[in-house]
Amino acid sequence: MANYDVKDINLAPYGQEKIDWAYRNMPVLRAIEAELIEEQPFKGLKIAVSVHVEAKTACLARTLARGGAEVALTGCNPLSTQDDVAAAMAASGMSVYTIHGDSEEEYINHLKMALSFGPDIVIDDGGDLAMLLHSELKDLTKNLIGGCEETTTGVHRLNILEKEGKLLYPVVAVNDARCKHLFDNRFGTGQSVWTGIMATTNLVVAGKTVVVAGYGMCGRGVALRAKGLGAKVIVTEIDPVKACEAIMEGYEVMTMDEAAPLGDLFVTVTGCEDVIVGRHFEKMKDGAVCCNAGHFDCEVSVKELKKMAVSSKELRHNIIGYELKNGNTVCIIAEGRLVNLAAGDGHPVEIMDMSFALQAQSARYIAKYGKELDKKVYQTPEVIDNRVAEILLDTKKISIDKLTPEQEKYINSWDF
Ligand SMILES: NC(=O)c1ccc[n+]([C@@H]2O[C@H](COP(=O)([O-])OP(=O)(O)OC[C@H]3O[C@@H](n4cnc5c(N)ncnc54)[C@H](O)[C@@H]3O)[C@@H](O)[C@H]2O)c1
Repeated sequence: MANYDVKDINLAPYGQEKIDWAYRNMPVLRAIEAELIEEQPFKGLKIAVSVHVEAKTACLARTLARGGAEVALTGCNPLSTQDDVAAAMAASGMSVYTIHGDSEEEYINHLKMALSFGPDIVIDDGGDLAMLLHSELKDLTKNLIGGCEETTTGVHRLNILEKEGKLLYPVVAVNDARCKHLFDNRFGTGQSVWTGIMATTNLVVAGKTVVVAGYGMCGRGVALRAKGLGAKVIVTEIDPVKACEAIMEGYEVMTMDEAAPLGDLFVTVTGCEDVIVGRHFEKMKDGAVCCNAGHFDCEVSVKELKKMAVSSKELRHNIIGYELKNGNTVCIIAEGRLVNLAAGDGHPVEIMDMSFALQAQSARYIAKYGKELDKKVYQTPEVIDNRVAEILLDTKKISIDKLTPEQEKYINSWDF
């Protein structure tokens, strides 16, 4: 009998409809799932999954279960859980612990509940399970075979643990696979951030000045789509090379202090903290809208804004306006949490199809080889990465050229 803590189990039919829609549009995951059903690589294994609980992730969790695993599903951000999807997964018999709008304490409790069955494998998005397993729940790592990490910020945290010699189990950095960050971070974030902003604000993007903080994999996508929607785009960066890249793409580059009075819409996507703080809010235009697409809600300092505001009120669902002493109002979407998930459905289905086909295969890799691996952060094996692209091309009935033996020899020699 599965355990669960979800908002309302009666929401299951609505969630199931979303899951069914996602699944029919995830051909790559379906192909991997067929292999896993046949092989049962997770038979007898327990997998704790901490991801944004919405339809695509439900498909991943179900794929792991169909591959033989006992799965416990929890969120990785209190505002990104979709309660109907959580209910559908619980109704299907999976252990699910997450409720949209969980307080920080409830959120951590739900992570702990998902870990309480003593997983053999953990799948993280942002590294919150890993942080518990490296602090108060260290004991649970004794039997842990390994883990997989979905996003840049999580991989960053794990890399630091490894560097300090503190990492307690091997992890596959799924984020760093080519079929992940080239598509998910760039095109997925690029599209879904604007879907979230536009649906939440109902404002036009064309003609606006959009400030994108961080020109990494995600920032490139966010800036590209803003440009495509007709915005004038300003990029802020700390890396001189990335700044030059943004200039060559035709964007203006400046500091956040310079951009603050110019922007109509601000999107942070840096993985860093305090990117937009009090002195920036003070310079912003009346009605400026700020949101964040980075993993944690520390990029736009909503804490500081709350302290300096003379009043605040909800101006529209998921938008709080903070009135400042100078009479201007600064608007924050989704409390500064991941705008595409806390104010939208997350990445498009086909994008997550690729990411989760990587996750399912990486989990299979950990199940098979984890016990032989060192306590390190591993790149996703190239064969797994290539397989996702090959299946995708197959589903689109697209063929690509193959190297001839002569070309293969040429390409691998230096003395031509
Ligand atoms: N919203 C989503 O769905 C989604 C999807 C994937 C990743 N993410 C998250 O988005 C964040 C960025 O991911 P990424 O893959 O683009 O990382 P990345 O490392 O490729 O890019 C981050 C960029 O931000 C820059 N930067 C860092 N601090 C800065 C600062 N203070 N001001 C301006 N620029 C700064 C860095 O130089 C880098 O170019 C991470 O937290 C990641 O986990 C979110």
